[in-house]
Amino acid sequence: MPRGSARARTAFSRAPVRTGSSRGFTAAPGGQPAPRQQRRGPAPTLGPAAGALRPPSSLSGHQPDAAAGSVHGAVATHVYLARVDVVSDECPFCYQRETLAHLVAYRTDEGQPWVLPVVRKVEQMIASNTSLNHEYLPILGLPDFRANASRIALGDDSPAIKEGRVGGVQSLGGTGALRIGAEFLRRWYNGNNNTATPVYISSPSWENHNSVFTDAGFKDIRTYRYWDPAKRGLDLQGLLEDMEAAPEFSIFILHACAHNPTGTDPTQEQWKQIATVMKRRFLFPFFDSAYQGFASGCLDRDAWAVRYFVAQGFELFCAQSFSKNFGLYNERVGNLSVVGRDANNVQRVLSQMEKIARTTWSNPPSQGARIVATTLTSPQLFAEWKDNVKTMADRVLLMRSELRSRLESLGTPGTWSHITDQIGMFSFTGLNPKQVDYMIKEKHIYLMASGRINMCGLTTKNLDYVASSIHEAVTKI
Ligand SMILES: Cc1ncc(COP(=O)(O)O)c(C=O)c1O
Repeated sequence: MPRGSARARTAFSRAPVRTGSSRGFTAAPGGQPAPRQQRRGPAPTLGPAAGALRPPSSLSGHQPDAAAGSVHGAVATHVYLARVDVVSDECPFCYQRETLAHLVAYRTDEGQPWVLPVVRKVEQMIASNTSLNHEYLPILGLPDFRANASRIALGDDSPAIKEGRVGGVQSLGGTGALRIGAEFLRRWYNGNNNTATPVYISSPSWENHNSVFTDAGFKDIRTYRYWDPAKRGLDLQGLLEDMEAAPEFSIFILHACAHNPTGTDPTQEQWKQIATVMKRRFLFPFFDSAYQGFASGCLDRDAWAVRYFVAQGFELFCAQSFSKNFGLYNERVGNLSVVGRDANNVQRVLSQMEKIARTTWSNPPSQGARIVATTLTSPQLFAEWKDNVKTMADRVLLMRSELRSRLESLGTPGTWSHITDQIGMFSFTGLNPKQVDYMIKEKHIYLMASGRINMCGLTTKNLDYVASSIHEAVTKI
């Protein structure tokens, strides 16, 4: 058989049922041999591309983003657009060390966390449902949750779902989905325990990607070009060149939408080019979908890339997080959608996933999965949820257009269209490290050294202050 056609078989084809090898998904009995009766059929394939928190100050209940009061003489406002690691000890008002959330979570226009109304409603339904108990869930998770999570990623009419070649694994957030997906790939993809398979991560990317794949045992973590600072946009040419140069069967982590940290996504045409190269080069797409619905306000639009790849015949993984779009950050609810060439391959993969989940968290927590499953299975609750998601997305979109228009009307040097071209929670402002330093030290506006801000830190009350401070930083520094 020519090499090419062997590859085209599938990436998952080597994962044995509950044991588990391949170019693609080879499941070899790694470590513990499985009981004889569990070994059936030829090994499966997912084939490469075919296929200090100081307590709130007792001083006057100062609100960090309240544009009132004078701190440090001229400074009236503290604005948190990122996690703050170092807060001036001299300033009694800089209490907000509980800043991790500022880095990654949604905030209302009042700067507060938001429990989605549909979530409140479903929580009450769950609390009063006396038929529910606290028995363990199945190792792979709540069936209704898994099926419906995969359905919203792939679409109601997904041929892959109809053909029975999609499986879901409930996980501890999107991070858990990435971690068990990485573990599976190390064990069974592209040979057995092939820790040398290159894993490509966008430059820049969510910092945890590198650690997750390193901890799963991969030794060759590389970056692919993504962000072009000069044009403040996607470096498509660099990205495609890096894909062309990647060894066949390499794994590529792709942000399904709302790229973190740049807020810059490929257009649909650009995704098509990416898919063409990945298919030709036998590269494995591992989508990270942490912001579905949160980016554009539309679940379907935000899932376009994943669905396009599935329609092109790729076998792939899609790690879904419900932390952001359901606001369920601390419930740790996620799903790994596995799309295989056929039902048999997917069953093999799920069988191996059961082993991985068993030794990782044994079985997953129920509350978040129940909330999501109840919502997704009721047409009325589903409609309410979509409306809630749109509320969050619209607030972010509004802050983007308001910030841009303020900067433009101030005549701030440079172009600011990237603020509205970017999408999702994060924005690369283009401020350089010295300007960032000025913003922090002189204006008490906290952002990342890279210039990244969390758009949710902006509110109608602090927009003017932030815009005039950016103007000052850009004109003075
Ligand atoms: C790109 C990306 N992937 C994954 C995650 C992890 O999500 P979770 O909190 O559900 O583990 C995040 C969270 O910030 C993220 O930004």
